[in-house]
Amino acid sequence: MYDELNKKSVLVTGGGLGIGEATAKAFAAEGSNVTIFDIDKTAGEKTAKEIKKSGGSAIFFHGDASKSEDCLGAVNMAINHYKSLSILFNNVAIQPPDSYLNAVELPEEMWDKIININLKSRYLMAKFSIPHMKKLGQGVIISVASVQGLQSMPLVPAYAASKGGDLSLMRQMSLDFASDNIRFASINPGTIETPMVFNALEGTGENIEDGLINSAAAHPLGRNGKPEEIAKMALFLSSDNAQFITGSHFNVDGGMMAKGAWADEVGASGSN
Ligand SMILES: NC(=O)c1ccc[n+]([C@@H]2O[C@H](COP(=O)([O-])OP(=O)(O)OC[C@H]3O[C@@H](n4cnc5c(N)ncnc54)[C@H](O)[C@@H]3O)[C@@H](O)[C@H]2O)c1
Repeated sequence: MYDELNKKSVLVTGGGLGIGEATAKAFAAEGSNVTIFDIDKTAGEKTAKEIKKSGGSAIFFHGDASKSEDCLGAVNMAINHYKSLSILFNNVAIQPPDSYLNAVELPEEMWDKIININLKSRYLMAKFSIPHMKKLGQGVIISVASVQGLQSMPLVPAYAASKGGDLSLMRQMSLDFASDNIRFASINPGTIETPMVFNALEGTGENIEDGLINSAAAHPLGRNGKPEEIAKMALFLSSDNAQFITGSHFNVDGGMMAKGAWADEVGASGSN
């Protein structure tokens, strides 16, 4: 338990499903007041309802995180209801199954959609949240980037660019707002079993079970991650235990980024 998170106002983008849902619930279990912002009304309302049923506090804002007016609306809702905003979990992103194309083939509209939801939302949410954090004299902004911000796989030009941009933006903002006592950090998940991954596997036509087994094998720990494992890192980074952390990113990836591109070949031959 992190006592300092009790009654803190936390806003989670994409809090209806997956990592966002698990993180909203994890903060609520610490006694935080949670605002869930999601484009999926059913999923967002369900997360908020489940939090309330288990004795926590949550409200839901229905909107699109790529739209300025909706980002402002979500922040205003948190402020009106909970009277402050201490922690922003900048989590929302998409990786549509039909976007696995090289840069020549990728339609411009798809590029814009991915960049606007995955990257522009980070800027918009920070832009509208920071003034309230300044008033409080403290704040924490955590973004969920990806191992794809550090290393590359084929056919994801917009998603990869959005994640590299996310890491760079968080690092940059940590300098501008350090004197306001607002800390920034990014989390780079490996493969986490969420609807995003299930949809992506479905899109490739691969059997989901087989796909999950294959992706588990790519992690040195031999398994995929759970959304709750990202949530635990978010709690830590928001807590007083992380007071000297800002502008850094953290891999929660089962060792994926520790593995060199040559590792499988050399490792298999037993010659390393
Ligand atoms: N799952 C993984 O393996 C993995 C790996 C690396 C990084 N990530 C990152 O983790 C974050 C969360 O991913 P996830 O796997 O939980 O995704 P998910 O698709 O399972 O859930 C995303 C949530 O965001 C919501 N959402 C989508 N578009 C929105 C919009 N325009 N406005 C508001 N809400 C919107 C969805 O409705 C959903 O509730 C993303 O930033 C993703 O890039 C995930």
